[in-house]
Amino acid sequence: QSGLNSLDTFTEEEEMLRETVQRFAQDVVAPKVREMDENEMMDPSIIKGLFEQGLMGIETPADLGGAESSFTSAIIAIEELAKVDPSVSVMCDVHNTLVNTVVRKYGSKEQQEKWLPILAEGKLGSFCLSEPASGSDAFALQTRARKEGDNYILNGTKMWITNSYEAEVFLIFANVDPSKGYKGITCFIATKDMGVQIAKKEQKLGIRASSTCSLAFDDLKIPAENVIGEVGKGYKIAIEILNEGRIGIAAQMIGLAQGAFDKSVPYTYQRSQFGQPIGTFQGMQFSIAQAAIDIETARLLTYNAARRKDEGRDFTREAAMAKYWSSVIAQRVAGNAIEWAGGVGFTRETGIEKYWRDSKIGAIYEGTSNIQLQTIAKFIQKQYS
Ligand code: CAA
Ligand code: FAD
Repeated sequence: QSGLNSLDTFTEEEEMLRETVQRFAQDVVAPKVREMDENEMMDPSIIKGLFEQGLMGIETPADLGGAESSFTSAIIAIEELAKVDPSVSVMCDVHNTLVNTVVRKYGSKEQQEKWLPILAEGKLGSFCLSEPASGSDAFALQTRARKEGDNYILNGTKMWITNSYEAEVFLIFANVDPSKGYKGITCFIATKDMGVQIAKKEQKLGIRASSTCSLAFDDLKIPAENVIGEVGKGYKIAIEILNEGRIGIAAQMIGLAQGAFDKSVPYTYQRSQFGQPIGTFQGMQFSIAQAAIDIETARLLTYNAARRKDEGRDFTREAAMAKYWSSVIAQRVAGNAIEWAGGVGFTRETGIEKYWRDSKIGAIYEGTSNIQLQTIAKFIQKQYS
C-alpha cells in the first residue's frame, strides 16, 4: 500500500529491507492479526518468522549473526510492521532498539559474543525497568540487588514488561546501593531459567497480541559477570537507550497511522451516499488531506531523528518531538479513519477500529507525552535562560 514517500534518501539496502518486511507483514502477519487480537496472544509462528527474516538483529554485526544494518533500517522495519500490526511491531522494536542495543553498546566483547548471536537467532528479549511505584519516575525503582560471592541476588517486582510472556532473555535494572540514589542502579542480563517468574499477564485496550506482564524476582541469582556496563551506571544506560527507543515508538505510530489511512481511504471511493462517492465530498476530502499532512509531518520528524542518530549527531530533542507528535497524530488519524468508514469502521470486521485502540499506547510507553514535553522543555530552557 501507499507510503507518503516524500523522503527518498533511503539506501538501496534500506529500500530492500522495506520490501522484505512489507512482504512478511502482508503474507505472514496480516492473516493472523484479528485472531491474535481476539485471543490476546502472539502466534508463535510470527515470532519464529521475525527471527527467520533476520529482523531480530538488524543492527547486530554480521559475524555475531545479525544483519549489520543501520538504525534507520530498524525504524523502517518497525514502521512497516505497524502498518499491519502494531503488536508485532513493538515486539520487534523492543527486541532491537532496547535489548540488542544495550548489549551492543554497553556489553563487553565477551558479553556481545555470548548474547548477541542468541538474541539474533531465536531468543526473545525484554527490557525490565518500570515497577508498580516507578513509571515516569523510573529511577525511583525498588528492585534491589545484593552481591553474594560471584553472584547478585535480586528481589523486587517489575511491571508492564513487553515481550515478557514469550521472552527468554531479560535486561533487568536493579539498585545495588540505594544510599547512592539512582547512582546505585545497575543493569543485569538474565535468562528465564535463572528463575524469572511471570506474576501476571495484563489484559489491555490495545496492542493486545503484545504480551505485557509483571515479573517477580524472589532471590533471583544472577552471575556477577552478567552486569552490563559499570555497576551504578545502569540509570544512564536506561535513559540513553530510551532516547533511541523513542524513535522506534514514533515509527510504530506513523506506521499505525498509515495502516489506518490505507484501510479506510479506499472505502470512501467505493461507498456512495447522495449519489456520489463519500470521499468526493469536500468535508471528507479535507479531513483526509489533513490526515495525510499529519502522517507526513510525523514521518519527517521520525526519519530526521533516526538519520541524526545514524550520523552520530545529537538526537534526544528530535526523538522526543518525533515520539510526541507521532503519538498525537496516530490517535487522530486512526480516530478519523473510523469516522470516514462510518458504521462499518466501528465494527471489528474491517480492522480499522483496532488501529485506534492500538494508538493509545503511543502516548504512554517509553515515556509518556508529558515526559517527552519535559525533555523538549529542558532543551528550550537551556537555550533561552
Ligand atoms: N538523556 C540522557 N540523560 C538523561 C535524560 C535524557 N533524556 N534525562 C535525564 N538524564 C540523566 C541526567 O543527566 C541525570 O544524570 P547525571 O546525574 O549523570 O547528570 C539523571 O538522568 C537524572 O536526571 P533528572 O534528575 O533530570 O531525571 P529524573 O529523575 O527527573 O527523571 C527519567 C529521569 C526517569 C529519565 C525521566 O525523565 C523519564 O524519562 N521517565 C520515563 C521513563 C521511561 O521512559 N520508561 C520507559 C520504560 S521502557 C518501555 O516503556 C518500553 C515499552 O513500553 C515498549
Ligand atoms: P505515571 O508515571 O504514574 O504517569 C501517570 C500520568 O502522570 C501520565 O499522564 C504522566 O504523563 C503524568 N506524569 C507523571 N509524572 C509527571 C511529571 N513529572 N510531569 C507531568 N506529568 C507527569 N516499561 C518497561 O520498563 N518495559 C517495557 O517493556 C514496558 N512496556 C510497556 C507496555 C505497555 C502496554 C504499557 C502500558 C507500559 C509499558 N511499560 C514498560 C511501562 C511504561 O513505560 C510506563 O507505563 C510509563 O513510563 C508511564 O508510567 P506509569 O504507567 O507509572 O504512569
